[in-house]
Amino acid sequence: MKTLDQAQVKGKTVLVRVDFNVPMKDGVITDDRRIVQSLETIEELLDKGGKVVLLSHLGRPKGEAREEFSLKPVAEKLAELLGREVQFLKDDKVVSDQVKTWVGELKEGEVALLENTRFNPGEEKNEDDFGKNLASLGDIYVNDAFGTCHRAHASNVGLASRLPSYLGRLIEKELKAFQPILEDPQRPYLAILGGAKVSDKIGILNHLIDQVDGLVVVGAMAFTFLKAMGLETGHSLVEEDKLDLARDLMEKIADREIEFILPVDVVVAKELKEGIASKVVPIEEIDKDLAGFDIGPETVKRIALSVSKAATVVWNGPAGAFETKPFDKGTEGIAQALAESKAFTVIGGGDSAAAIQELGLEDKMDHISTGGGASLELLEGKDLPGIVAVERS
Ligand code: 3PG
Repeated sequence: MKTLDQAQVKGKTVLVRVDFNVPMKDGVITDDRRIVQSLETIEELLDKGGKVVLLSHLGRPKGEAREEFSLKPVAEKLAELLGREVQFLKDDKVVSDQVKTWVGELKEGEVALLENTRFNPGEEKNEDDFGKNLASLGDIYVNDAFGTCHRAHASNVGLASRLPSYLGRLIEKELKAFQPILEDPQRPYLAILGGAKVSDKIGILNHLIDQVDGLVVVGAMAFTFLKAMGLETGHSLVEEDKLDLARDLMEKIADREIEFILPVDVVVAKELKEGIASKVVPIEEIDKDLAGFDIGPETVKRIALSVSKAATVVWNGPAGAFETKPFDKGTEGIAQALAESKAFTVIGGGDSAAAIQELGLEDKMDHISTGGGASLELLEGKDLPGIVAVERS
């Protein structure tokens, strides 16, 4: 692994790709954890005498400079967290002669942040011109944005192919957590997959069936499986065009003879609304006029039992609509089971990570990934372009 241990940093201008894609409301950052998690690499580079230039995207502005996606509030938050000045190099095209001049004036131990890389249409297309322009700003490149490693954009793959490149401390941690699972997991190995749609998880389902000893399917996507088994699912979210696929997956699971857990009871209600009247029913008794929004307590019990016997557990995707009470219990139950387990526990990013953090159970997990899509692709057995490009540089 090419890490910061091999990088000569002193006096160099170091371009660092971070993932500052943080949630914002009315220009205010509502969760700064991604910024906090990038501090280790930034501080190390500054301490070693680097001139640090940070790059990140924020949201999906589609190649246009849109004020609501500006990284300015992030620069302010970063300055607060670092306890030192962060120069925000505002430019709608991200790089310009003016930006080059500003970067040229940076001194050792100083840090600057460029504007949202996705303001430039060349970013997501990994265009040569934009890649060259970005590369002209620095001497070396550090990729520490795990969350975007499954993308091949100018600010990761483009830069790594043009400059001597290294992986930052956050990516190093992510890879160290995932490597044992990908290469030689402690067994029994249990995967818990939730979330809304089977279609988002086809790749990982197909791949994991061959790797794991047990598979749990929860979240709205479980209803597609239940319907494929011939059960009434009422108004629950079902992907009708994925029923055959669900049947094929269940056949594959049966052939492999691994443990397979689907909900045995669910929480149903008329609609997804905070505080609405709800009830727990066995899956054979879902009313035509109701929809399921969470797994029930009997299902949680079965999952907890399986978790208690596992040596490795990977969890990606909530068990229900956990942001809307009373449909938070299933996700909470799984989180608690993982917190109590002695297994090596890894949480794929996104909603399941948010749920663990909301419950204050972060310290009880072995690893909570900062990447949603990136961690899914790793678990699918794919190479991540943002990492491959650094290893090849
Ligand atoms: C994420 O939030 O998962 C990463 O920042 C990647 O964002 P993207 O899905 O817009 O590429």
